Amino acid sequence: MFLSKKTQIVGLDIGSHTVKLTQIVERGKDLVLTKYASRELDPEAIVDGTIMDRSQVAGVIGELLAEAQLKVKDTVIGISGNSVIIKRITIPEMSEDELSESINWEAEQYIPFAIDDVNLDFQILGPSTKEGANTMDVVLVAAKKDKINDYLSLVTESGLNPVIMDVDAFALENMFEVNYEIVPGRVDALVNIGASVTNINILKDGVSVFTRDSSVGGNLYTESLQKEFGISFAAAESLKKGDDSSGVDTSQAQSIISSVTEDIAAEAARSIDFFRATTGIENVDRVILSGGCALMAGFTERLAERVGVEVELANPFRNINIDAKLDSEMAQGSAPAAAVAVGLALRRLRE
Ligand SMILES: Nc1ncnc2c1ncn2[C@@H]1O[C@H](COP(=O)(O)OP(=O)(O)OP(=O)(O)O)[C@@H](O)[C@H]1O
Ligand SMILES: [Mg+2]
Repeated sequence: MFLSKKTQIVGLDIGSHTVKLTQIVERGKDLVLTKYASRELDPEAIVDGTIMDRSQVAGVIGELLAEAQLKVKDTVIGISGNSVIIKRITIPEMSEDELSESINWEAEQYIPFAIDDVNLDFQILGPSTKEGANTMDVVLVAAKKDKINDYLSLVTESGLNPVIMDVDAFALENMFEVNYEIVPGRVDALVNIGASVTNINILKDGVSVFTRDSSVGGNLYTESLQKEFGISFAAAESLKKGDDSSGVDTSQAQSIISSVTEDIAAEAARSIDFFRATTGIENVDRVILSGGCALMAGFTERLAERVGVEVELANPFRNINIDAKLDSEMAQGSAPAAAVAVGLALRRLRE
C-alpha cells in the first residue's frame, strides 16, 4: 500500500487491555507526537485476540476519536498473538514479482493454516546467509483472514480508514529505529509484555533476526489474585498495581505477585534461550522492555536476573517531541505501554 510522504496517519493499537491512539508528524527535522489517547477495555471485550464485544471496543475507539479530535482518517493497526505467523524461509532466488506469483505455493509448506484462510505478505531479505548459492532469505507473514476482517471492519465502522495492517513485533522495531542508535554487532531484544501477549523481536545490527509471540502477560497477575482472593477483575488490577484497598492479606498478595513475575520473566527468558539455540547467536546485549507489564514494580530487575542481561525500560519518546498541547506527563508516565502504538504511527515514515 502506498502513501505519499505528506499523507498523515494514525496509529491504533487495539490491545486486549488498553486501546491506544497516536499520531506523529514531521516538523522540520523533528518528529512530534501530536495525539495520544488511551482507554481501557473490560477483560471480556477481547479474549485471545478475538473481539468478543464489538460494541464495547467500537465505543472505546469512538471515545478516543472524540478526545483526540483527529483530522486524519488513515490508520495503521496492528495484530499479534496466535492469529499471525512470521516465518523466515530460504527459497530459490527469484524476483519480487515472481515471488508474488508463487507465494501461496511457497507458503503452503510453512504455514499451519489453510492457505485460503490467511492473508500472506512477504519481504525479501536478500541472498541466503545459510544455504548454498542461488537461494534467498524471505520473511513470510501470514495472518488469519477472519481475524483481520474483524479488526478491519470494526475500525472502519468506527469512522477510520484502515490502510495498513502491521504486526506488533514489527511496530516495536519501528519504535526502536527512531529512538535508539544502531551499534554494529550489538544484539538488542525488544520485549513487549502486554496483558495477554508477549511480543519479542530480536535485532542484530538493527536488523530483525528473530520474532516470537507467546500468550503470556499481565493478566496472569490479575487472574491469580482473583482466584486466590475471590475478588473482581478491577480489584485485582488495583491490587497488583500496589493499591491494597480490597482488604486482602497483603503479604500473601505480594508472594503471589512475586511468583507470577517469576513465571512471566521465565517465559521471556525461554524465548531468548530458544533464540540463542536456534540462531547460534550467543550474545544478547540488552533487553528493551515495553508493554504495560513493564510497569510492574520490580519487573525489570527480575527479568534482568532471569535473562542474565541488562534490561532497560523502553522510552518510545526518546527522539520524539511531545506537542505542547498534550499532557506530556501522562504520555511519559505510561510511555513503555505506548511502544507499539508509536511504532504503528511511524509506519508511514519507514515505508
Ligand atoms: N502501572 C502499572 N503497573 C502494573 N501493571 C500495569 C500498569 N499499567 C498497566 N499494567 C498492566 O499492563 C497490562 C496492559 O499492558 P498493555 O497496554 O501493553 O497491554 P495490551 O496491549 O492492552 O494487551 P495485549 O497486547 O496483550 O492484548 C495489563 O495487564 C495492566 O494491568
Ligand atoms: Mg499490546
